[in-house]
Amino acid sequence: MSEEGVNPRRRRLLAITSGLGLVGTAFAATPFVLSMMPSARAKASGAPVEVDIGKVEPGQLLTVEWRGKPVWILRRTPEMLKTLKEDENFLADPKSSVDSQQPSYAQNIARSIKPEYLVLVGICTHLGCSPAQRLEAGAVSGLGDQWPGGFFCPCHGSKFDLSGRVYKNVPAPTNLEVPPYTYMSDTRIIIGVDQKGAA
Ligand code: FES
Repeated sequence: MSEEGVNPRRRRLLAITSGLGLVGTAFAATPFVLSMMPSARAKASGAPVEVDIGKVEPGQLLTVEWRGKPVWILRRTPEMLKTLKEDENFLADPKSSVDSQQPSYAQNIARSIKPEYLVLVGICTHLGCSPAQRLEAGAVSGLGDQWPGGFFCPCHGSKFDLSGRVYKNVPAPTNLEVPPYTYMSDTRIIIGVDQKGAA
């Protein structure tokens, strides 16, 4: 495609990412999905990570690494999205209004740009453990019949819903962090850059 054929938003993103030495990777996914391998130099620099989300099936969670941190990309099913309104009474900050550091697109019940795809830093906001996935609802989760699906931190018992919103009366003080990210196309996102530029 000629440069004239590229829309201005995509051209701007390409300019940002090429200047930062764009790389991407995926590890420890459920299932394991490999995107692109990063160079050690790019990893160390905390460069933005481009991720192909096109092969993530509904209900699956892909883990990628950004700045040495796990970032989860969960493709939520309609049933998963339905739970987000139903569990609000159990949550400490259902509107994500407490933590003003969060990007504006984290301040809705889906906490995402597109409701179907949740993008979250997979680190507990209490003392930094990595919460376990408890995506399935009900007793199979080990968290009781009423569990709607979400994440459970095994270190001190914090619970988060399928938007990474923290439950009431647990040690974690805030919702899980939503990193800056932008869609480059319907099937590709870049983590570390949003409309305000690189994080
Ligand atoms: S580190 Fe997650 S609950 Fe303490």
